[in-house]
Amino acid sequence: MAALEHITGEGNSTVPRHIAIILDGNGRWAKKRGLPRTAGHAAGAETFRRIATYCKNIGVNYLTVYAFSTENWSRPEEEVKSIMKLLDRYLREAIATMERDHIRMKILGDVSILSPSLRAEIEETNRISSRYEGFQANICLNYGGRAEILQAAKRYARDLVEGKASADLTEDGFSSYLYSAGIPDPELLIRPGGEKRISNFLLWQCAYSEFYFTDVLWPDFTPEELDRAIAEFSRRDRRFGGVKNG
Ligand code: FPP
Repeated sequence: MAALEHITGEGNSTVPRHIAIILDGNGRWAKKRGLPRTAGHAAGAETFRRIATYCKNIGVNYLTVYAFSTENWSRPEEEVKSIMKLLDRYLREAIATMERDHIRMKILGDVSILSPSLRAEIEETNRISSRYEGFQANICLNYGGRAEILQAAKRYARDLVEGKASADLTEDGFSSYLYSAGIPDPELLIRPGGEKRISNFLLWQCAYSEFYFTDVLWPDFTPEELDRAIAEFSRRDRRFGGVKNG
């Protein structure tokens, strides 16, 4: 993994199969430059594009980002509108290029209240993605970890009552009701922007994830910063509650 060698000097970094990132710091990035917050989100969307391409190139299979939470609706209307517009543009561009680049894309969250055009684009990206294997970008949109678990519990209860599910529910069985059904849990969760909290992101899926926090604001996040996070991840001793061999 040459890209990692120049940072770690080790050359033996383990690339996680699934990386999750909380996109944070767009607003502060813009403020530092005297720009409106929306300019920070636009820069953040570009950084996402760059980091997703890099992840694909170094052999990461899944990249999941927290783009818009169930709580983010409380932001000023203009800011919400501009984030939705950015997502709309991003998805339209993705539809035009993902076949060429063999990129799969999935939106995780309650998409039922999004605009009809966004929903149509999401359907289209799902349709294209179903034809491919390989790198998958997951964008969490109107997403909340508790809401995800709650909707899974409700759907399971309904299936149980209707005789479509067994009362002997397993962890794997429950996972199949989550938005992330079929996606392996992230091994590494990265939060740029200086805060050290999970903010209702992937609560079920992060049970054993390694966390990496950095003060770098998301629009400034670079492939080199990702290399650093992966190198740190490689040095961690993951025991999953057990003891180390030997
Ligand atoms: C957090 O920064 C960022 C958001 C709530 C929005 C993220 C959305 C995008 C980057 C737009 C499109 C995304 C994709 C994936 C195409 P913040 O505003 O909370 O920053 P602050 O903490 O500095 O105020």
